[in-house]
Amino acid sequence: MKFSELILNWYDENKRNLPWRLTKDPYKIWISEIILQQTRIAQGTSYYNRFISRFPTLESLANSDENDVLLMWQGLGYYSRARNLLFSAKHIYNDLGSKFPVTYNEIIKLKGVGDYTASAIASICFEEQTPVLDGNVYRVLSRIFELENPINLSSSRKIFKEKAKSLMSTKRCGDYNQALMDFGSLVCKPQKPLCGSCNVSKLCKSFINNSVLKYPVKTSKNKIKTLYHDYIILTKDRKTLIVKTEDGIWKNLYQFPVCISEKKQSKLYLQEYFKKKYNSSRVKISLINQKFINHKLSHLTLKSRFWNINIENNVAKGLFVSDFTDFPMPQLMRNFREKYKTKLSIF
Ligand code: ADE
Repeated sequence: MKFSELILNWYDENKRNLPWRLTKDPYKIWISEIILQQTRIAQGTSYYNRFISRFPTLESLANSDENDVLLMWQGLGYYSRARNLLFSAKHIYNDLGSKFPVTYNEIIKLKGVGDYTASAIASICFEEQTPVLDGNVYRVLSRIFELENPINLSSSRKIFKEKAKSLMSTKRCGDYNQALMDFGSLVCKPQKPLCGSCNVSKLCKSFINNSVLKYPVKTSKNKIKTLYHDYIILTKDRKTLIVKTEDGIWKNLYQFPVCISEKKQSKLYLQEYFKKKYNSSRVKISLINQKFINHKLSHLTLKSRFWNINIENNVAKGLFVSDFTDFPMPQLMRNFREKYKTKLSIF
């Protein structure tokens, strides 16, 4: 069975009884979705009920004054949303003959309506195949596909939208979107997902690879990560070994062979690491710089050490060079060279 069928089956058994699910009136769905953008379901439900009993129709909202609308919104925060609701209600009433727009492309033109709200209204009320992306859906998609794109970067949105489209049901579009949101908050939960009772786990890459809790990926905009770089200086006939970096920020630049870790490693660990890497029976390393050399990048601090190495066998991978001029290298390598060239006979 396809993902969308499994999700709809789950929904039919487990959906929450929420007041806006008893209607397809776009006015009411619009109100519910705007309220739910800023609060949890339980609190959102009571705001929705109060709002709808005070302003049961688009006309009643359009003919009210801002003060009354803001009073109903009190405590929810983001008061511009309430003002935009009133503005757009007046626009629909006065300029569109009270006819709520019926397609995603028209709905999104309303003031205060973005991709999420337009997709929700178009799918729930008019069965348009427009996937919604809210926090829950981001999490589900990120786990299903093992997406490395951070969910808190706007540049990730495009890929999530594409993935969402690729899974979306062609039938019951509104139910499908709401199913995915419910499923995210009830099953595919942030901390303790219920993978044991999940009926789509067999289609979930992160479940299959036992990496569910790694997803969704978020960038910590404030927290600067630290990485430890332990470089080895391997010399032969007054030439030094360098290797071309395969990926990451320094892709295609040359560096000394390196062991990268998230924590400071012991000398013993590093010896074992290079022993294994070079398939050698004996490796000895000795530290060149006593203090870490810090190198700050935008979201990363690199702490580097450089080690002389003695190795039993011949090393085949990489290049032995005596002159680095023609090899692009990170500034870190150049700085090290500047600092230590008088002490070391290798450059
Ligand atoms: N969160 C926001 N809107 C929702 C909806 N229609 N169903 C489930 N969760 C939601």
